[in-house]
Amino acid sequence: MILEVTMDLLQPHLMSKIVDEGVLGVAAQNTDDFSIILKLGSLMVLFAFIGCLGGSLNNILVNYSSQNIGNLMRKDAFSKILSLSFSQIDKLGTGALITRITNDISQVENFISFFVRGMVRTGLLLLGGLYCLFRINTDFGLIAVCVVPFIFCSMIIAMKKVEPYFLSVQESLDQINCILQEDISGIRIIKAYVKELYEKIRFGKANDELLAKQMKILILFAISHPIACNFIYIGVAIMIWNAGKAVAAGTSTPGNVMAAITYIIQLLHAVLMVVFIIQNISRGQTSWKRVKAIIETDPELTDGHLNEEPPQKQSFAAIEFKNVSFSYSKEEPILKNINLKINKGETLAIMGATGCGKSSLVNLIPRFYDADSGQVLVNGIDVKDYHLKDLREKIAFVLQKSELFSDSIANNISWGKPGAELEEIKVSARIAQADSFINEIPEKYENIIAERGMSLSGGQKQRISIARAVLKSAEIMILDDSTSALDLKTEREFYEALTKAKPDCTKIIIAQRIASVKRANRIVVIENGSICACGSHDELLKNCDIYKDIYNSQIGEEAKNG
Ligand SMILES: Nc1ncnc2c1ncn2[C@@H]1O[C@H](COP(=O)(O)OP(=O)(O)O)[C@@H](O)[C@H]1O
Ligand SMILES: [Mg+2]
Repeated sequence: MILEVTMDLLQPHLMSKIVDEGVLGVAAQNTDDFSIILKLGSLMVLFAFIGCLGGSLNNILVNYSSQNIGNLMRKDAFSKILSLSFSQIDKLGTGALITRITNDISQVENFISFFVRGMVRTGLLLLGGLYCLFRINTDFGLIAVCVVPFIFCSMIIAMKKVEPYFLSVQESLDQINCILQEDISGIRIIKAYVKELYEKIRFGKANDELLAKQMKILILFAISHPIACNFIYIGVAIMIWNAGKAVAAGTSTPGNVMAAITYIIQLLHAVLMVVFIIQNISRGQTSWKRVKAIIETDPELTDGHLNEEPPQKQSFAAIEFKNVSFSYSKEEPILKNINLKINKGETLAIMGATGCGKSSLVNLIPRFYDADSGQVLVNGIDVKDYHLKDLREKIAFVLQKSELFSDSIANNISWGKPGAELEEIKVSARIAQADSFINEIPEKYENIIAERGMSLSGGQKQRISIARAVLKSAEIMILDDSTSALDLKTEREFYEALTKAKPDCTKIIIAQRIASVKRANRIVVIENGSICACGSHDELLKNCDIYKDIYNSQIGEEAKNG
């Protein structure tokens, strides 16, 4: 950069020499010796070339560093997002996370390259230009110094007005990303409800909002930039007027005047650049703050310090809830004083109306959320004492909503146990009752599943998710309403196969249907966040009214009479 600017500043000096010594000199002496013009001209070309070289090299290096910084920030932000708890991610929102990792980081990248280039270049040009002007003529230097504040002020006023809009532009982008993400993944439901127009309007509104904010920024700059430029031309005009008088008085030469005009234009443009850089700083800062909010967020869930698990005692329950209470927002408790022991190898079923807190209860075991009070113990150790990785490795979780990736069926199943043999994968698929339908697909296990499992039926997705959990050799298996799309016969066959294959595994089954849970060792019935009954199918039929009601509603009149 220093090379480029020095060359830029030398050009007017050479030009003034060409005019004064070359053109005017030759004319005065009435000779045809153009060697001085040729010499200085060649020098100008050489300097231009050197400046060009310095500029290119500088561009490459600056872009290299800014792009690499952006690249590192994206990776950092992404791994930070992966380490955040669900409640932290819920709070930030998907749209905002996407904007921050994409657009905001690009803004920061732009800022870095613009700032490094601009600040060095303008700084050098300003100082160098002023020095050269004062060297030519003190008056010329003073004129430049007087014009600078006008340009500066006109741009600063515009900037102050624009600044608040930067954050609001990024927030509009969040909104757009949020709608985009929801609508693209929910395109089927939009079509099913013929909501295209509604969504178009919703997206259009968010988009128009962005446009309005962007235009406010652009219009302010559109007005202020020419005004600032006018000050430059006024400065040049004053300079010419002054220089004309100086030449007439014999205190300056035409060559020097030409150089001075070039210097003042260079210099005042540099001032304009400074203002643009300041504007860029505030834009970059807005984005950087948003990125920093992710990078510097401390994960809510901290790793425990338990490095080595003590030898397991048979007396410890596989899982124990001790007086556990939990809420998503502090106002409304979702789980109240839960006390429950689940023995090793036991199959425990959880029943209850939707929204009663079944999923919330099992989410506490792998620490998807932390309990507000009370303790959750796994093998007699508080889940908070485990390293998250160790704890979660003990648990095979089938979520209520099957999550599949656009990859082959085999890879989807072996996702929790990379490098598993195909034979192992097939065994798990057989237990999950998925083998038969997979074998009917032409590419079988190599079939690539469409994004988020779009190419499969609900029951097929569930069975692949189950196979994935079966393959992961875990002590605890949690099935959160994950056989709901299977017919009763398939479901029964799955549970029989599972019990046979994994007798030692502690299983927690959340289900809506009595048929799914009646073979469990114990069934827990939850109502409004509390355990209201616990026992085997036969015991509950005798003692628990809620269970009896559910049973009766599912068996139907016909079976009761028969
Ligand atoms: N991430 C969440 N943020 C806030 N509230 C939630 C969240 N997930 C569930 N809830 C609320 O907690 C209650 C229990 O939900 P859940 O445990 O999923 O019920 P279910 O028994 O159907 O599995 C519901 O009232 C639900 O609205
Ligand atoms: Mg649930």
